[in-house]
Amino acid sequence: MKGMELFEGKANCATCHVSFNFTDEMYHNLGVGWDAKTKKLADQGRSDVTEKDANRGQFKTPTLRDVMVLYNRGGNANPGLDPKMKPLGLRGDEIDALVAFMYALTGPVTNAEPPAAGSLPK
Ligand code: HEC
Repeated sequence: MKGMELFEGKANCATCHVSFNFTDEMYHNLGVGWDAKTKKLADQGRSDVTEKDANRGQFKTPTLRDVMVLYNRGGNANPGLDPKMKPLGLRGDEIDALVAFMYALTGPVTNAEPPAAGSLPK
């Protein structure tokens, strides 16, 4: 409940991820296509399709529903489906564990040395 309150309040997510599918079906510039080194858009986004300046760097708001469900069923069958996409047969608790792992990916990258072989507790 706390997450939902943040989503709709202080975190501002629901201004774009809105309605039953958590998408406004619109295109927004979040800066994800911007290359800070070259100070240019590396990906023009929506304007590649519309050829309108106003759409430069805009991408569609995706639904936030069922991302893991999509992976678990092996994506949506189509002629170009990546061969790495396969039905996974994950149980609910396994999906929860995967989501917990992805939370652990948030934060700065460190260059810690791996432990020496044989030094791990058995
Ligand atoms: C200004 C509109 C906007 C706001 C505000 C916004 N989003 Fe998004 N969100 C987008 C767009 C557009 C994308 C797609 C970006 C891309 O294509 O790389 C996206 C992508 C995502 C994705 C990836 C989904 C996927 O399937 O790849 C997640 C998760 C997400 N947003 C969560 C959030 C959360 C949590 C918040 C609030 C803290 C938030 N968004 C606020 C527009 C928005």
